Amino acid sequence: MAAVTRLLLFAVLVWGARGGDDDGMKEEKLPPAYDPASYPSPAHNHLLHFQEDVNEWKFETTQNLQRPFMQQLYETSKQLYEDPYDAKSYVDLREQLNSHCNRVYNQTCEWQFSPPYNPRNHVEREEGTSTNAAIVYLCCADAQEFQDFLWSLKFLDLNFNNEFKYPVLIFHENFGTAQFNMIRQMSQSNISFHKVNLQVPRFLDLQQVPRWYKGFSLGFRNMIRFHAIELYEHPAMQHFDYYWRLDSDSFILGRLWVDPFEFMRINDYKYGFIATMTEKEDFIQDLWELHEAHRRSEGIVSEWFKGKWNGFGFYTNCEIARRDFWQLPQVASYLKRIDREGGIYKSRWSEATIHFLATTLFLASQELLQIVFLPYWHQNLVILPQPWSETDQTNPDGTAKARQDRQEPRS
Ligand SMILES: *[C@@H]1O[C@H](CO)[C@@H](O)[C@H](O)[C@H]1NC(C)=O
Ligand SMILES: *[C@@H]1O[C@H](CO)[C@@H](O)[C@H](O)[C@H]1NC(C)=O
Repeated sequence: MAAVTRLLLFAVLVWGARGGDDDGMKEEKLPPAYDPASYPSPAHNHLLHFQEDVNEWKFETTQNLQRPFMQQLYETSKQLYEDPYDAKSYVDLREQLNSHCNRVYNQTCEWQFSPPYNPRNHVEREEGTSTNAAIVYLCCADAQEFQDFLWSLKFLDLNFNNEFKYPVLIFHENFGTAQFNMIRQMSQSNISFHKVNLQVPRFLDLQQVPRWYKGFSLGFRNMIRFHAIELYEHPAMQHFDYYWRLDSDSFILGRLWVDPFEFMRINDYKYGFIATMTEKEDFIQDLWELHEAHRRSEGIVSEWFKGKWNGFGFYTNCEIARRDFWQLPQVASYLKRIDREGGIYKSRWSEATIHFLATTLFLASQELLQIVFLPYWHQNLVILPQPWSETDQTNPDGTAKARQDRQEPRS
């Protein structure tokens, strides 16, 4: 039988087995157009992020360009998912992101490449082998972010969670029925909602806490504290060994060839990050001094981090880690000291730097993983999957292929 006939027959059989026109055949629900009126009033919203002037770029990225661009990007990602050998959708994905980046971020985007999704390496998930883990979001400051967030869920489902089916925990401050319904319509994932009330902690003197710090609101700093310190103690988190934090504007661009939770568990990694960054002076004031004072008083010697620190940190908008790492007594006491000092509020110390500095004291470098196999887009960081091809040393657009052998499980 010719291959084409066989394929056709197979298609007919599958169609028949599906009953011809079940749910899978219905048109998929995509996020609606931006509608500020549909989102709860910012008056009740402690997450409100930026002062007007700092807000400009955000307006550009999300409100004006968002829907047609995101829809196109999603369709392209879906084509690549369905046919990983299809060079055209890969090139399209790359070009779409590139033109978006030029337009919105004035060509300041940082490009990286993740290994290609190779269908032959794909191991079907076996029942019962999954890691006890959850994907977590904190959402949202406003209608624009909510818009991003719906797309983030679409990309997550498409490229990862429709297959892997990890629970998704959404921490929020102000969702109403409209938001619950919208999210449930958009996503196939097992979602639970957890209302949080983020506030400046009582042990800080409010007189000492500036209302704004270098353009960042109290709400923004509340959010930092939540991610840096509070999340791991939340009752809803206690069932899980691992968590994967994503932001409302985190997008999984391509299909994953490995389950990062399983990868981390099997290889005993404690903390996984996707990229690194360096925080500005304004946002690290006195942090290193406090860190060193704590280190000395506890007699800790870092196994791998020596010398003076310059503000280096993890890009925490995509972070996968053991939840209980943050609850080890020595780590919890470090976080508590940072928290009590109030630098998160006084100088906008971020979870990016706090989490990095904590790992230098309490983890061995072999327990850290840079998750290079994750195709990811967040603002001006783009990590593209490469197309799969058996032999070529170049991508279909002529660029050199990144090395594929960078990360193998340790045995
Ligand atoms: C874009 O980048 C160029 C070159 O770096 C710079 O001269 C220009 O001022 C930037 N434009 C904006 C709007 O930031
Ligand atoms: C959904 O996730 C929760 C944990 O958040 C879990 O307890 C529950 O069993 C899951 N439900 C399904 C249908 O998988």
